[in-house]
Amino acid sequence: MKKEIKKTALVTGASRGIGLAIARQLGLDGYNVVMVATGTREKNSAAISGLENLGITVKYVQADISKTEDRQRVVREAVALFGRIDVLVNNAGVAPAQRADLLDMTEESFDRVIGINTKGNMFLTQAVAKQMISQEPIGERRGVIINISSCSSVVSSTNRGEYCVSKAGISMLTTLYADRLAREGILVHEVRPGVIDTDMTSTVHEKYNKLIDEGAFPIARWGKPEDVANAVSALASDKFLYTTGNYIDVDGGFHIKRL
Ligand SMILES: NC(=O)c1ccc[n+]([C@@H]2O[C@H](COP(=O)([O-])OP(=O)(O)OC[C@H]3O[C@@H](n4cnc5c(N)ncnc54)[C@H](OP(=O)(O)O)[C@@H]3O)[C@@H](O)[C@H]2O)c1
Repeated sequence: MKKEIKKTALVTGASRGIGLAIARQLGLDGYNVVMVATGTREKNSAAISGLENLGITVKYVQADISKTEDRQRVVREAVALFGRIDVLVNNAGVAPAQRADLLDMTEESFDRVIGINTKGNMFLTQAVAKQMISQEPIGERRGVIINISSCSSVVSSTNRGEYCVSKAGISMLTTLYADRLAREGILVHEVRPGVIDTDMTSTVHEKYNKLIDEGAFPIARWGKPEDVANAVSALASDKFLYTTGNYIDVDGGFHIKRL
């Protein structure tokens, strides 16, 4: 009888927030999980053991996805331990260190945000896609890539323009890779979170509390990391085998235009 191969999911930015929830959910779905973040293993030991305590097989890789050598090492270490990568979730991302009006935005901040959010995702996807192509397909496909962009892909915030541009770039790289990789048996999806309660939004809690109270979000609450993780889990499953290059909003209906 043929031994069933256990699939592996690689999740960037998995030390906290949305990425940690995704890593946990995919682990519970039965994947080996490769968690990637910039901090040391020691710093993220609670996050790692939280998953291990649920019976999930975890590999932690400390890496900065904006660096070429780090991206290559992530793939190397994942494959060395688990033999393959079946799901890539490009979740790691940063906001500008300081929100500044578009007319005061610095090149330094632009380069940092684009370097991680857009360039990092673009080239990690390239490296993982090549790995996936070299693998034997399991079932109908060779792999799934899920990009976490943002409502900011299409919504203007003039006090963090570099973030919006970086996320719009992720939407286009979703389209590009979906087109190129379909023939390789690899599907590519995009998830656009709205306002999710994590460290990233902790500095603007009051602002978003007010927006929620004023009815800006049809589903009038903060999004939870698990809301995004559940969407990722569904897209990574075998339920979307004839879908690629699409996005799904996980934003409480924020994208709905009203009159
Ligand atoms: N929260 C929201 O409302 C919201 C809305 C829309 C979209 N998003 C997007 O969702 C994703 C996750 O957001 P979050 O709110 O969970 O953010 P978060 O709480 O700030 O966590 C960010 C994660 O990304 C990792 N990371 C940052 N820079 C990295 C790099 N250069 N290389 C590798 N890992 C890196 C961090 O690792 P360390 O722990 O090592 O720093 C951390 O694990 C981001 O792409 C964000 O843009 C968030």
